[in-house]
Amino acid sequence: MRILAIETSCDETSAAVVVPQGGKKNKTNSVVVLSNVTATSLAIHATTGGIIPENAAREQVKYIIPVIIKALLDSDNIEIKSPEEDSQIANRIFKEKIDGIAVTYGPGLIGSLLIGVETTKTLSFLFNKPIMGVNHLLAHLFANLIQTDSLITFPFVGLIVSGGHTDLLVFKSLTNFKWLGGTRDDAAGEALDKIGRLLGLSYPAGPEIEARANKVKNNKIKFQSPMIGSDDFDFSFSGLKAEVSRFIQVQKELNPNGHLTERLIDEICEATQTAIFSVLVKKTIRAANLFKARSIVLGGGVSANQTLRNKLELEIRNQELGIKLFAPEKQYATDNAAMIGAYALMNPSFTSHTKITANPELYFD
Ligand code: KG4
Ligand code: ZN
Repeated sequence: MRILAIETSCDETSAAVVVPQGGKKNKTNSVVVLSNVTATSLAIHATTGGIIPENAAREQVKYIIPVIIKALLDSDNIEIKSPEEDSQIANRIFKEKIDGIAVTYGPGLIGSLLIGVETTKTLSFLFNKPIMGVNHLLAHLFANLIQTDSLITFPFVGLIVSGGHTDLLVFKSLTNFKWLGGTRDDAAGEALDKIGRLLGLSYPAGPEIEARANKVKNNKIKFQSPMIGSDDFDFSFSGLKAEVSRFIQVQKELNPNGHLTERLIDEICEATQTAIFSVLVKKTIRAANLFKARSIVLGGGVSANQTLRNKLELEIRNQELGIKLFAPEKQYATDNAAMIGAYALMNPSFTSHTKITANPELYFD
């Protein structure tokens, strides 16, 4: 089965073509990405310090068709020539080679979701192709099935850490899972982005916070890890933002020119990261122990962070758990359409275009 996948839930516009590894005789649960094209409006959001939903959707309307055309051409190794020729060739590839279309139908920004969902429904109607709605959050975990030889063993604990969500789940199989807990307010990535904004870093702040934190050794600054001692699998990060905000205010008042030094910004980044990652690691490992997990699977933009991966790996080793840690290749950790296609290949349930509706509040049931 060859799938065209589309993802537009937030600020990215992405299209991919995926097939199972080994073709029809696939036994490996692994996905081959023939193409994955992503256009981002991040530069625009960086100027406003965050995503303004209407700006995101306006950009996505412009990108969606060119991104789909490029994904179809790339999947057949055909170079871009001219808009007219490209459209004709993409049209032919779509008609002849694509078996179905998978699209993110939630959760996300309604205006953004609608662009992907309505485009998909139109293509499905015009070309008579079946379509499938995919849960964006689950797809983040399925990014781990892309181009890999190592098999995820069950049961596994899944940690989704993105700009909009922080959730812990346990999976008995790819389709049988239970939600254990999640954030009660800000998501982990959202906390990083908001604290980054307080520090004057550009949006999204996660990668710069990681780079700055890497420069710091023996940090004297420490922030509280929210809910680290609670007997559940929930998280809360808005209190941390308030603590860091107060700290920054005091430091600015102490400094004669009212600014933070670069060194101090680096240290605040390190302390923030440590506070967030300590509670993520503690609760993920506790869930893994409780459910006798054989793997831990990470997904979402924050899982691109090497320090988070290292901390989990270290804890697994220290406790001699013998658990395998999976984290997506970095290009598939942040939002992309290939992970939507990966989910659809592993859980195919294609239907008619009349059955899919965007659902911004979609969760896990
Ligand atoms: O999964 P994603 O691309 O979008 C959502 O579904 O929300 O995640 C975006 C989030 C942002 O908050 C961004 O700051 C964070 O992922 N992020 C990182 C890193 N790269 C992206 N956070 C920490 N370290 C990184 N290297
Ligand atoms: Zn995401």
